[in-house]
Amino acid sequence: MEREQWASKLGFILAAVGSAVGLGNIWRFSYLAGDSGGAAFLIIYVACILLIGLPVLMAEFSVGRKGQSDAIQSYHNSGAGGFWSLGGFLGVLSAFLILSFYGVIAGWIVYFLYSYLTGAAQSVEEGGVGDFFGGFISGTAGPIFWQFLFMAIVIAIVFFGIKKGIEIANKIFMPLLALILVLLAIYSLTLDGAGEAMNFLFAPDWSAFGNFDVYAAAVGQAFFTLSLGMGAMITYASYLGKEEKLSSAAGTIVTFDTLFAIIAGIVIFPIVFTFGIDPSAGPGLIFVSLPEVFNLMGGAGTFVAILFFFLVAVAALTSAISLLEVNVAFLMRKLKWNRKTATLVAGIVVTLFGVPSALSQGGPVTFTIFDNSFLDAIDLLTAEYTLLLGGMITSLFVGWRWKKIDALRETGFGESIFGILWLWFVRVIAPAWILILLIINFYNDFLA
Ligand code: PHE
Ligand code: NA
Repeated sequence: MEREQWASKLGFILAAVGSAVGLGNIWRFSYLAGDSGGAAFLIIYVACILLIGLPVLMAEFSVGRKGQSDAIQSYHNSGAGGFWSLGGFLGVLSAFLILSFYGVIAGWIVYFLYSYLTGAAQSVEEGGVGDFFGGFISGTAGPIFWQFLFMAIVIAIVFFGIKKGIEIANKIFMPLLALILVLLAIYSLTLDGAGEAMNFLFAPDWSAFGNFDVYAAAVGQAFFTLSLGMGAMITYASYLGKEEKLSSAAGTIVTFDTLFAIIAGIVIFPIVFTFGIDPSAGPGLIFVSLPEVFNLMGGAGTFVAILFFFLVAVAALTSAISLLEVNVAFLMRKLKWNRKTATLVAGIVVTLFGVPSALSQGGPVTFTIFDNSFLDAIDLLTAEYTLLLGGMITSLFVGWRWKKIDALRETGFGESIFGILWLWFVRVIAPAWILILLIINFYNDFLA
């Protein structure tokens, strides 16, 4: 049977933007920026996106389009043997692990959306959202129910395939998300705290530039936000025809992903400053601090909350779709299953593997791994190690194992100055930074 392809290049771009734009842009970006000093983090983050994220993204696109297969086989088809195929293997593994807990967190989001639709969240008394949220995630049936519901939607969309499932879903959802995000940003800019928020986001505190941990957090976030290192971009690019140009597509995706993060900051921080919340509240920022504020805002708050959680839920959905597709493409090729079987099996197995994560936040799963809950341990294992290793192998592979001329042709730059610059970024600069980051993470986790 012939392998599937995107119906149009626009469809591919929207799907890749859909993969990139997710919890990373809203939940993860806002708490990292809040934690690491706002503008200083933003500047370092944008630098990491351009200097490391963009070159690695182009390398992943090149491997996928040239390989025309799933993350592992694409390496083989484009000249890898032995050690190099570890890159594809890590991608498939990371996608599986990340999706297992991504579905859990997305389930929490859907629960909040539901609770604002029914009015249950709006009627929590002032200061009580922490308990409301804590009570929910430490339950048993609740977190599993919402995780399963979210995963069922992901599975249903992937079930219909590249053109009829993934491409159509992204064509509908991505423009809708952009619209909701801009509406929310306009609203936030009318709040009293908008000025302070703009200062926080755009006027840097220069002392933060001396803090190495901020650089480490920024590189990690660049990887996570662009869906790098987990085979997603390799897999999506493999459904492109061989003649499509890649450099402009990569630029478009990076631009939209970065805009989404910055505008999400413009939505969130005016709310934070208007109501005197601590911007460094950490991962609970959008689950506890923001709902507290939505509740203070009365009727408008309910409306803003519903738009906000809908936005986050759909952004998470289009990202989760790309994670499941990595595993589905792998099973279809490796075991020669058809799409429907592969989707059901991969979807159900990854959902079940997520159950311990769902039950690890005060629920019955009480064991910890290096002091982290099961969910946090998987998050750290992937965000701090497997993703980075996968991305490093991809860039070394394209930079050194491919013939220079092939690598340059694949990106569409040819031997222009951009091509040569790109080549040295994937050969040396990106891998060197990633290596430093891996060492810092290892030191912080195990030795410090
Ligand atoms: N890029 C997504 C985000 O920002 C996360 C993700 C990672 C999605 C890997 C797919 C694959 O939330
Ligand atoms: Na992102």
